[in-house]
Amino acid sequence: MCGIFAYTGEKESLPILIDGLTCLEYRGYDSAGIFIPHSGLIKSVGAVDNLKKKLSKAMPGKSGIAHLRWATHGEPTEANAHPHCDCNKKIYVVHNGIIENYKELKNKLLLEGHIFISETDTEVLAHLIEHYLSIKQDFEKAVISALKDVRGTYGISVSYDNEPEKIIAARFGAPVVLGLGDRENFIASDASPILRHTKNVIYLRDGEVAVITPKTHRIYNLDSAEVTRDKQILDWDADQVKKDGYEHFMLKEIMEGPEVVENTIRGRLIIEEGQVKLGGLEVVADRLRQINRIIIVGCGTAYYAGLVGEYMLEEYAGIPVEVEIGSEFRYRKPIIDKNTVLLAISQSGETADTLEAIREAKRKGALTLGIVNTVGSTITRETDAGVHNHAGPEIGVASTKAFISQLTALALVTLFIGRQRNMSLSVGQEIAKEIKLLPKKIKEILKSVDDIKAIAKKYKNSKDFLYVGRKYNYPIALEGALKLKEVSYIHAEGYGAGEMKHGPLAMIDEKFPTVAISLKDSVYEKMLSNIQEIRARKGKVIIIATKGDKTLTDFSEDIIYIPKTIEMLSPILSIVPLQLLAYYFALGKKLNVDRPRNLAKSVTVE
Ligand code: UD1
Ligand code: GLU
Ligand code: MG
Repeated sequence: MCGIFAYTGEKESLPILIDGLTCLEYRGYDSAGIFIPHSGLIKSVGAVDNLKKKLSKAMPGKSGIAHLRWATHGEPTEANAHPHCDCNKKIYVVHNGIIENYKELKNKLLLEGHIFISETDTEVLAHLIEHYLSIKQDFEKAVISALKDVRGTYGISVSYDNEPEKIIAARFGAPVVLGLGDRENFIASDASPILRHTKNVIYLRDGEVAVITPKTHRIYNLDSAEVTRDKQILDWDADQVKKDGYEHFMLKEIMEGPEVVENTIRGRLIIEEGQVKLGGLEVVADRLRQINRIIIVGCGTAYYAGLVGEYMLEEYAGIPVEVEIGSEFRYRKPIIDKNTVLLAISQSGETADTLEAIREAKRKGALTLGIVNTVGSTITRETDAGVHNHAGPEIGVASTKAFISQLTALALVTLFIGRQRNMSLSVGQEIAKEIKLLPKKIKEILKSVDDIKAIAKKYKNSKDFLYVGRKYNYPIALEGALKLKEVSYIHAEGYGAGEMKHGPLAMIDEKFPTVAISLKDSVYEKMLSNIQEIRARKGKVIIIATKGDKTLTDFSEDIIYIPKTIEMLSPILSIVPLQLLAYYFALGKKLNVDRPRNLAKSVTVE
């Protein structure tokens, strides 16, 4: 995700562009940049504030394009900041998304003599447009020709120094909105920065290209045929739109689940070979063949992802795995050698305790790997290699989408290491196939929002909850309970269901409900017995069950069904209703869901 904003009109563009970026800030803060025809380019690493501080000279002009980056290709440096330009410094491009075939295109352009200055995928677009201009196509035609060459996702805006009034935008898989004002027009990633200027908008559809000048706007498809589209009049206030119409980032981020899994697996699954392509791990592939132990380190939600990873890796890659919280690992005397891998999981890539665990493991000669969402973060830099989640920025303090992408990345790593070892082609293929189906299945779960809301309402006066699961869904019971605690401040405990009779069962009575994850898997029968034990003590049970399971209706009236997948991937589905449940409990208590008291998003202190 990133933010794009563009303006053409009769006013000075710089303050309008800065204001637009400020509105979009939540979409990315790796770097910011602005191009104004005839005035030039300004870029800075970090958020919009850094860009503002850097503005020293006037940048006059009545149009321009602006960008906030959330890096996917190349670190968050100034060279990689958008806008990107062609060799002649005439064509400027801002881009949201990923050009999947950029390497192939870049190689061709390099052979033609183009010179690249960034590591981004985006820069190929500027040179491609330059290429088509050089063979005498006009600006609009050249942009369309370039777009026909690329594969992947994009929301773009393009500015051309020779035609300063004109801005061209296009969309494929990343949002682009046109704002139609009075002798001024706008382009943005979402309507929030446009709303303060006009409420008349057109949402571009995939495969559409828009050309705006101060007084005109036209829309084409990639065959250059003009498309007629009516404008829409928005009646939203700006703050709402930042959350894409959702009341909270937490809900928005849960709803992004399908897209998040899609982004984590994009370009990485090779189904027919039962394999994954993880560029980050290829360089250490030989060393990975030698290892005999993996220690996963994480804090909070990332630690629970690690627990699921342990089950995946031991079952399918046949390597002994231990999982530890960062703050414990760093202060004891862990036994590590050169055949040990330390795998760190962190959304921010800045978690202090996890980082110290990496440093300690490195001192002892271990190979260090990361599963990190933030490109260019400290953990990315300090680990020997790793896998980026590509889940987009997570704003809600309680992690939801990052957890889902961590589990997905762990499944990919399991395939990678498993196939190096004993995992058969057919098992690899089955896992890869099932991973591919996850986005569709998450989408299906998200449709049960109303049922989940109703359950949260029904139990709103309960002061304590127990969450139970077994095997792959034991860590999900822990994470489900953590979510509830974090956002609703309701006391909750997660347990392995088999542990009930060793203590927690004593707490159960009619006022102490249990959330049980009871899927049709290898521990189904065991879970049923545990649920019976709870019911025998008059405990109420909310059940997460496999779609089509009729047996459970005898056990509870509060059942949330999820689609079937293979056991190792089931946590990626079962966590979704638990995240929603936590959200609706907090909402019912009118709490600040996105900013729970006493907590911060990335914990960079011990
Ligand atoms: C890379 C691109 C990706 C593109 C793909 C195309 C980047 C950042 N990623 O992805 O956008 O689609 O090529 O082939 O440009 N790393 C660590 N520690 C971590 C996480 C990552 O050291 O915790 C390292 C990796 O080892 C790798 C680099 O960072 O060298 C990029 O990782 P990742 O984005 O996962 O690599 P690819 O999937 O190859
Ligand atoms: N893939 C582009 C980059 O890494 C765009 C990322 C974004 O959407 O901000 O620069
Ligand atoms: Mg060039």
